[in-house]
Amino acid sequence: MPDGESVETYLLTNANGCEIEILSLGGIIRRWIAPTSEGQDIVLGLDTVEAYLNDPCYFGAVIGRYANRIGQGQFSICDKTYSVDVNQAGHCLHGGSQGFNKRNWIVESVTANSLILSLKSADGDQGFPGNLLVKTHYSLDERNCLRIEYSATCDEDTVYNPTQHSYFNLNGHDSGSATAHFIQVYAEHFTPGDATALPTGEIRPVAQTPLDLNQLCKISDVLSSDYEQIQLANGIDHNFCVNGYSPDTTDVRDVGRILSEEACLELSVRSSMPGAQVYTGNFIGNDLGKDNCRYGPNHGLCIETQHYPDAPNKKHFPSPLLKAGEVFSSVTEYQLNVI
Ligand code: GLA
Repeated sequence: MPDGESVETYLLTNANGCEIEILSLGGIIRRWIAPTSEGQDIVLGLDTVEAYLNDPCYFGAVIGRYANRIGQGQFSICDKTYSVDVNQAGHCLHGGSQGFNKRNWIVESVTANSLILSLKSADGDQGFPGNLLVKTHYSLDERNCLRIEYSATCDEDTVYNPTQHSYFNLNGHDSGSATAHFIQVYAEHFTPGDATALPTGEIRPVAQTPLDLNQLCKISDVLSSDYEQIQLANGIDHNFCVNGYSPDTTDVRDVGRILSEEACLELSVRSSMPGAQVYTGNFIGNDLGKDNCRYGPNHGLCIETQHYPDAPNKKHFPSPLLKAGEVFSSVTEYQLNVI
């Protein structure tokens, strides 16, 4: 790290040959080896700490304090207004310019199949209120399921909305466009965005739109649509209101899945969070990725489980408020199935 601290790497493994390499920097998932005979690496990543510290794509990182956007970087809690770092198109994106993806997390415990990372985010960090203590617990099981448990407490009322920003390409990170993959998302509604990708506040039915992903859809078919929301976002970059959310449980429910016929592999996602940002990697630049590989737009697909973007300013969205002294917990699972 620039201050001389060292970034550690950890490897979670199981008996099926699944391997997941995670960095203390940003809790970044740098490599994810599928339990197939080919053993392809299914996540996009980078080779150096410097590259990760300058990465505009957030490859594989844990995002905090607030995944996705807070409009104009402003919100209020109990009549007190907070201004947080504005780092993209006039909004706060992914927690501000020094988000959790750029921190070297503390390693609390590590075994062959689990890793617990923690972080202290001081009062005023990127403008957010309260001293926030967070943990991210990764564990890999013998069903090839990576379970991620997020928890946090704060000494003041605040907002917390963590996610994991892995970009998946089930054919292998170096295999080019992922638009031949199929996707399914269990959501009857989504939150349309404006030209800056900020939710307008509308909760729109997906029915009769190309964002109805309730049946398996080929990504290239969705991207070729002239639907105004797809055009505005340059692809899919939308929050889906995943069916069946309850604020009272950390039980996971089905969010969706991506599937590659070529790789005979499926990744299914389950979560306790209310929403999921489906992002087709519309803005992946042509910079060098790991192993001297050149990535480009749509080479990776993200399903980022989350609170709805800009929920601190949209009182009809599920609340991301974390009250002083209360415990935040959420769970997201990514499971690989050979099909
Ligand atoms: C999220 C956002 C996108 C983009 C990526 C990171 O998916 O919604 O607009 O910022 O993160 O590049």
